[in-house]
Amino acid sequence: MDADSRASQQIDLADAVRVMERCEALARHSEELGRLTRRFATPALAAAAGEVAAWMRAVGMSVRRDNVGNLIGRYEAASATGAIDGEPPRPRTLLLGSHLDSVRDAGRYDGPLGVLVALAVIKRLHAQARRLPLAIEIVAFADEEGLRYGTSYLGSKAVAGAFDPILLQRVSDDGVRMDEAIRAAGGDPAAIPADARSRDDLVGYCEAHIEQGPVLEAEGLPVGIVSAIAGQSRFTVTFEGTAGHAGTVPMALRHDALCAAAEFVLAVEALARDTPGLVATVGQLAVEPGASNVIPGRAVLSLDVRHQDDTTRLQFCDQLRATVGRIVVDRGVADRWDTVQEDNATPCDPALGGALGQAIASLGLPVRRLPSGAGHDGVVLAALCPVAMLFVRCRGGVSHHPAESVTVEDVAVAVQALARFVENLAGAEPTTAVER
Ligand code: GLV
Ligand code: MN
Ligand code: MN
Repeated sequence: MDADSRASQQIDLADAVRVMERCEALARHSEELGRLTRRFATPALAAAAGEVAAWMRAVGMSVRRDNVGNLIGRYEAASATGAIDGEPPRPRTLLLGSHLDSVRDAGRYDGPLGVLVALAVIKRLHAQARRLPLAIEIVAFADEEGLRYGTSYLGSKAVAGAFDPILLQRVSDDGVRMDEAIRAAGGDPAAIPADARSRDDLVGYCEAHIEQGPVLEAEGLPVGIVSAIAGQSRFTVTFEGTAGHAGTVPMALRHDALCAAAEFVLAVEALARDTPGLVATVGQLAVEPGASNVIPGRAVLSLDVRHQDDTTRLQFCDQLRATVGRIVVDRGVADRWDTVQEDNATPCDPALGGALGQAIASLGLPVRRLPSGAGHDGVVLAALCPVAMLFVRCRGGVSHHPAESVTVEDVAVAVQALARFVENLAGAEPTTAVER
């Protein structure tokens, strides 16, 4: 029997159907007509969070929003019993969830799927009027993608106590300073540090997410466990040339900022192709003054570099910096290199991964561990508590694209696996009892 048939024997699809319907419903909350774009601290994000908050309340969760804009639903633990020396033990908290912000022209599963799979697990407990010896919180993070301010993980940084207030001065592509955007969305920027969670309270964090790669599909597996999340560097690179008349300045006398940027973009591609396992992307390019009959005086681009090995990534970034130095000398332009984000590769927690593995094996499925090339809030949360991730097969490995696709059967496996994972962890909490 293959992995799919083994899993389908044990799986009830109803919860997964609802997860899929809700992913559709959330996709309607967008900043742009006809495509899904949901940036940090926008009315579209608030509308999506409002809908999720109502679903959380319907399954017995108390709901709050922290100052950076994360939505947090809490499913309380059973009251403590089995006290030692008369002191009732304080139930700890397991964090589940994912993010509700998106990239531009996004698919509907990157982020929302993890929130809704977690919600399906709570729905099952609630339907059985069941409380566990640990509290469960679902966090719907406010900014994993970093689309609005270029730097990602704003939500998880606040939770982990790693939010640097200097970020509040960053200005978005639409000209709004981050502290103003947070205030407009109902948060108090000055209170963000006080929202940090205490590590003593936490069992760990587990996120379900589409794989965003082709491995599970190629191997015929519905789910897998993330072994580690790739390191990532993000930069803004600016080329300053000299603007001038497109009809009168001879070619030999030009200092065209866009031509310098173009040479750099192709160098990034060529060098990345020569570095096994490395990926590098220029995803944004702004040209000023931006007229068809004016030589570009300034070009600003984003650069995103990733590798599983931190030394390889950092050496590659040094090489690119040297390349910029050569280009600006050759072309008589100036440059500016700003580091926006640096995250080292993050291994997932072996014990939590083991509990996920047991859950998957108990469904009769092979346990496949694989690295994540995409970034996730777990990168930041790993400094706070153990982190695990459950990957769900997606069609063609496509993501950050409206064609993102998962099957209801695979989502059902994910719900079942996460539910068993929660049971495994609850069973390992020694000092409190389960109430029905
Ligand atoms: C987030 O999805 C990232 O990897 O950029
Ligand atoms: Mn993403
Ligand atoms: Mn994501």
